[in-house]
Amino acid sequence: MSADQTNFGSLPWPDVLPQHVAIVMDGNGRWAQARSLPRHAGHKAGVASVRAVTEACGKLGIKALTLFAFSSENWERPQAEVSVLMELFLRALQRETSRLARNNVRLRLIGDRTRFPPRLQEEIAAAEEKTANGTGLQLTIAASYGGRWDLTQAAAAAARAALAGELRPEQITPERLEGYLSTAGLPEPDLLIRTGGERRISNFLLWQFAYTELYFTDVLWPDFRAPELAQAFADFARRQRRFGRTPEQLEQLQRA
Ligand code: IPE
Ligand code: IPE
Ligand code: MG
Repeated sequence: MSADQTNFGSLPWPDVLPQHVAIVMDGNGRWAQARSLPRHAGHKAGVASVRAVTEACGKLGIKALTLFAFSSENWERPQAEVSVLMELFLRALQRETSRLARNNVRLRLIGDRTRFPPRLQEEIAAAEEKTANGTGLQLTIAASYGGRWDLTQAAAAAARAALAGELRPEQITPERLEGYLSTAGLPEPDLLIRTGGERRISNFLLWQFAYTELYFTDVLWPDFRAPELAQAFADFARRQRRFGRTPEQLEQLQRA
């Protein structure tokens, strides 16, 4: 039984599943406000959704799950809310890491971690180390993350390699640049899910989303569990991904 008490097996999971799912976990504040609770109650409730969705993806054999937890721009929120979020990250890491390791999950954080309190930085490093041998679900938490930050740090890394004489400018190809991004080694995201009703990217994986299928739902993140994930996957399964080709070309490729 998963954390949300739904019968996982009876849900209508489609045959075609995405390999890499990215999620903008939005709507915690509104979930809390609708219940006359402080915003942080919504963030706390959202942790249970993280657990449920991670478990479901693990059971389904999904390769990679990337969760947008805190953006570069979220640092501009009121100090009290930022502190609560940092405290929640810390506690979630402390509480969940052993379970993740047991379930063969590999946890990694992408983002500018130098901005985190030192204790959180240590806990992140420890969690990454404890789960380093996980060969199941590759769980990536994007925190203090922005797509522009990622592209900028990739450009800086390429420039350093060029200065060190390891790279000539004409060798900088899309593939090479991709190798410097924080998501290097992960398959490209097949599906982006954004909860909470907004239809925007909010500086998430700007480069990586070039051919990602986008799915928006009004469901607020704390209400998003396995059944809502199954719905998103069913929608994904109905899409035809053409990557610039014609439908006829795709049919030919599928027959070959
Ligand atoms: C997403 O929920 C969580 C973070 C950005 C940290 P919000 O806090 O943005 O919730 P809403 O959008 O205000 O409802
Ligand atoms: C996006 O949510 C970032 C995360 C969910 C971590 P926001 O609530 O910060 O996005 P905007 O401000 O509505 O674009
Ligand atoms: Mg929001």
